[in-house]
Amino acid sequence: VAADALVAVHRDGAYLNLLLPRLLRERGISGRDAAFATEICYGTARRYGVLDTVLAAAGGRDPAGVDPEVRAVLELGAYQLLHTRVPPHAAISSSVDLIRAMAGPKPPGLVNAILRRVLAEDWTGWVRRVAPPDRLGSAAFAAGYPRWIAEAISAALGGDIDAAIPAMTDAAPAVHLAARPGRIDRATLLTQAGPGAHPGELTPWSVILSGGDPADLAAVRSGQAAVQDEGSQLVASLLVAAPSLDGDGGQWLDLCAGPGGKAALLAGLLPQAGRLLAADRAPHRARLVAVAIAGGPGDVIVADGNAPAWAAGRFDRVLVDSPCSGLGALRRRPEARWRRGPEDVARLTVLQRGLLHAAVDAARPGGVVAYATCSPHLAETRDVVDEVIAGRTDAERMDVRAVVPGMAVPPTAAADPRDLQLWPHLHGTDAMFAALIRVRGDRSGPGRA
Ligand SMILES: C[S@@+](CC[C@H](N)C(=O)[O-])C[C@H]1O[C@@H](n2cnc3c(N)ncnc32)[C@H](O)[C@@H]1O
Repeated sequence: VAADALVAVHRDGAYLNLLLPRLLRERGISGRDAAFATEICYGTARRYGVLDTVLAAAGGRDPAGVDPEVRAVLELGAYQLLHTRVPPHAAISSSVDLIRAMAGPKPPGLVNAILRRVLAEDWTGWVRRVAPPDRLGSAAFAAGYPRWIAEAISAALGGDIDAAIPAMTDAAPAVHLAARPGRIDRATLLTQAGPGAHPGELTPWSVILSGGDPADLAAVRSGQAAVQDEGSQLVASLLVAAPSLDGDGGQWLDLCAGPGGKAALLAGLLPQAGRLLAADRAPHRARLVAVAIAGGPGDVIVADGNAPAWAAGRFDRVLVDSPCSGLGALRRRPEARWRRGPEDVARLTVLQRGLLHAAVDAARPGGVVAYATCSPHLAETRDVVDEVIAGRTDAERMDVRAVVPGMAVPPTAAADPRDLQLWPHLHGTDAMFAALIRVRGDRSGPGRA
């Protein structure tokens, strides 16, 4: 199962967090076997970029250039040899058996030879031998990260990545639920979730599970509650808690709403007679939003936020939860760190700036815009907000600390202290970012400079 899943990652771009549980289920693998397959498959996927460097040094050629089956088995073998307590003879002989079953009689000799050479060093030895020599490069390699991501994390934190990386990486994140306001209260959800669950500290709706499958809870099955990182809940609540000038008529817009986690929370927090308009460019994502907010005071449309289907200056509050690199949620998607490159960030920031401009255009004078990403990359966070505000005559940054006291960013040189930057190692959430922008009450005209 682990090898087939990794082959699908390499060959078809599969998402492991979706594929692996399905394969385990289909093949009837459970208990300790499923836990072992998951550990070696996720562990390998997280590190395959650096394991390939080790394998290339041991085997004389880059595994990315060989058959996906051979590559997957080599990577799984190297991961077991360097990062688990699986006895080396067992890791090697099972790899040889596996590749024989998958690819016939030719590759087993090669797999055997390369894995024996991997065994010549332990992980520390390989880091010394093949990692870049500078401190950041070596730390990134040792942690199994592409260098550009380590650089981005270091820049956002304003220093070393050592404290942040373990929580961003290997921790199996606790499952957070949101007791959706207006549908169920937190105390009821806590009772349903059992004695291991406890209330989260960042929002009044969050419940942290100690284990088990959230889909077993009736409240989750009925949509009264949903799995949602506490950081996401906090971001949605920021938009609602930010003071707007001249009250709030309850006309709210969620510009990038799919699949609807934050929209469902917003819909439950609307003032009397308020209404949420939830937009997403992707029809299948918009359908998920419709399910998430069904029965509540909201409407869903398929729309490109850059080509507004609504009148300018209409909304009291606007959320733009922008498409982003997802660097803040790497712990949930094992292979994701190797899928993206810095060029993706450059491409995304164009979209992010466009959407944030559109969000400010959509808000009324005195209205509030929240800009959020699930990434701590400064180019996608601070810089987008800086550039959009600099490019307008009608927008000013609000101070998030005045809205949620106690959520100050670490005192780094890089981040804007008025913004919210969450971190797994500090807050137990994904590394979400949010900034609040207020549209000046005296806006007249289009606002873009
Ligand atoms: C980070 S997700 C939003 C998550 C959502 N707010 C939630 O809490 O469930 C970003 C969404 O933006 C949508 N999107 C991307 N480009 C867009 C555009 N130009 N206009 C509107 N939506 C867009 C994507 O389809 C995706 O569903």
